[in-house]
Amino acid sequence: MESLSKNLEEWYGPGNAALQKISIEEYYRDLPGAVILDVGNGGQSAEQQLGPELSTKIARFIGADKSFEMLSRLGDHEKILCDANAIPLADNSVDYCLLNNVIHHFGFNRADGFGSAVSGAIGECLRVARRGIIIVEMTVPRWVQQIESAMVGLTGGMATFVFNADTLRGLLQGAEAVEVTKFKTVRLGELVGDWTLFRAMITVPIKVPAGLIPYTYVFCEVRKVGR
Ligand SMILES: C[S@@+](CC[C@H](N)C(=O)[O-])C[C@H]1O[C@@H](n2cnc3c(N)ncnc32)[C@H](O)[C@@H]1O
Repeated sequence: MESLSKNLEEWYGPGNAALQKISIEEYYRDLPGAVILDVGNGGQSAEQQLGPELSTKIARFIGADKSFEMLSRLGDHEKILCDANAIPLADNSVDYCLLNNVIHHFGFNRADGFGSAVSGAIGECLRVARRGIIIVEMTVPRWVQQIESAMVGLTGGMATFVFNADTLRGLLQGAEAVEVTKFKTVRLGELVGDWTLFRAMITVPIKVPAGLIPYTYVFCEVRKVGR
């Protein structure tokens, strides 16, 4: 986890600023005055996650993460050490949950069934959030997801499982009484420039042009119906 924490800054650096710009301009407009639970927080303060301007306009920012190391990495904001599947907060006690590049970390255990870790965590976030969830997530082409699924078939599970964008959308739409809105995809190459050198995997130090890496970032809201 320590090396993940160290590599995260370098890996996310160029991409994160571009992701954050889209999030703030297009997805965080309703956040002023809101209570926000940032699930899979990774120790990011409100200012780091929302930018200097928006972070002063929100009512409260709580970071939740299952890893003590990641949670205590940065920031002195309010923090909860917990799994996204079991958040120790009351129903409807925050306005929004943010899930920023976390869903692929929920993994896939063959015994639990495809997508069940995601569905469980999304259900839990919808329980604690009055209004809904805002998601930024890395996704892969369907053929990559098929290879990952074959790996799970062979090994029994993967700690990190990156979904295809349409598959992820289907899983989110499967939650009860929600609508998935503002669903948008942006290729990594579009985000940081096709020729920018980038690490294809956080654990692999070799960099290649971003345009060759088949990641697409998904942005969306999962709104509770009627809110
Ligand atoms: C890639 S980091 C993203 C950190 C931060 N959201 C950001 O945008 O920089 C993923 C984080 O999710 C956390 N995480 C992974 N699985 C989790 C789970 N089941 N429940 C809560 N946190 C989890 C990890 O510990 C890690 O800090």
